[in-house]
Amino acid sequence: MYVLGIETSCDDTALAIYHETQGLIAQKLYSQTLMHQRHGGIVPELASRDHVQKLAPLISSLLAEANVSIDALDGIAYTKGPGLIGALLVGATLAKSLAFALAIPAIGIHHLEGHLLAPFLEQQAPHFPFLALLVSGGHTMLLEAKALGDYHILGESVDDAAGEAFDKTARLLGLPYPGGPAIAALARQGDPSAYHFPRPMLHKPGLDFSFSGLKTHTMQTWAQSAGDDTARANIARAFEDAVVDSLAAKCQRALTQYPYGQLVIAGGVSANQRLQARLHEIAAANHATLYFPRPALCTDNGAMIAYAGFLRLSRGQREDLAIEPRARWPLSELTPPSI
Ligand code: KG4
Ligand code: ZN
Repeated sequence: MYVLGIETSCDDTALAIYHETQGLIAQKLYSQTLMHQRHGGIVPELASRDHVQKLAPLISSLLAEANVSIDALDGIAYTKGPGLIGALLVGATLAKSLAFALAIPAIGIHHLEGHLLAPFLEQQAPHFPFLALLVSGGHTMLLEAKALGDYHILGESVDDAAGEAFDKTARLLGLPYPGGPAIAALARQGDPSAYHFPRPMLHKPGLDFSFSGLKTHTMQTWAQSAGDDTARANIARAFEDAVVDSLAAKCQRALTQYPYGQLVIAGGVSANQRLQARLHEIAAANHATLYFPRPALCTDNGAMIAYAGFLRLSRGQREDLAIEPRARWPLSELTPPSI
C-alpha cells in the first residue's frame, strides 16, 4: 500500500510517500521561510498563494524521484486541520480531487496526531500507550496517548505556545523567523549565570503551562540591558533555560502521576537539543524511555501525515467527498478508526 502524504497547514509545502513494508520511501519539503522572513512572521494569504503554486509540481517531482507511478498510489492523506484555513484548503482540495480522479481513498489527518506519530517512523519507536509532550508553534500540551485516535489531554498552555514564545522572543531580540532555531543557536554563546528568568506555573499544582509572563519579563530585561550582542546572547540563554525548565518540570510531574515508562516529545520545539538532553535525564530518573524523531520529522513534514494516513486507511477508515478543512480542531475530538 503506497500512501501519499500532503501537509500544507502553515508555511511548509511538505510531501512524502509511505509504503507498508518499505516504510518511508520519499520526502520533499518546500519551505516558505525566506518569503515570510521579510515580514517578520507568517502572512497567511501569502502562504496560501505559495502552496497553490508549489504543491502540484512538487507532487510530480516527488513521484518521479521515488520512481512511483501516480497509478500505483493506494491512498492520499492530507492535513485536515488545525492550521491556516487557506493553506489547509489548498492541500485538502488537491488531495481529494486527485484521489477522486484516481479512484482511491483520501483521508484527512489531524496535524497534531501526525506529530505524535512521527517517532514511530524511527527504528527505536514507542508503542501505545505512552505519555507525550507536544510542543509546536501553535500548541503546548501534555497528554496520554492511549491508542491511535484516543488522546487524553492532561495539561496545556493557558496562553502562548512554547514555539510561539520562541518566535516572539526572537523577534524582540531582532533574530530571524522561525525563532526557535535562532534562539537556540545564539543561546550557546550566552552566559547561563548572567540572568535568571522566572519559571512560570512551577509552584501551581497541575500540568498546565504559561509562557506570556516569561515573554513580558524578557521584554523588560532586554529594554533595561545594554542592547548589545552580549546581552542578546545572555537573554537568549536565560529564556531558553526558563522554557526548558518549565516544560521539564511538568514532564517530571506527569511521569510520576502516569508511569507509562515512555515519554514522547513531538512538534517543532522538540527539535531543541537542550530540551531533549534535559528530558533524557528526567526520563531516565523515572525509569522511562524518551522518544523523539530526527530533526526533520520534529518540525512540519509530509512523512507524519503519510504515516498517520496509512494507519487509518489500512484500518478501513474512509471519508466522503466533502472538502472540509478545520482551522480549529481539538485533538480530544479524534476517535480511533472504526471499520
Ligand atoms: O511543529 P512545527 O514545525 O509547526 C507547527 O505545527 O507549529 O513547529 C514550529 C515551531 C516554531 O515556533 C519554531 O520556532 C519551533 O517550532 N522550533 C524550535 C526549534 N526548531 C523549531 N524551537 C526551539 N528550538 C528549536 N531547535
Ligand atoms: Zn506542526
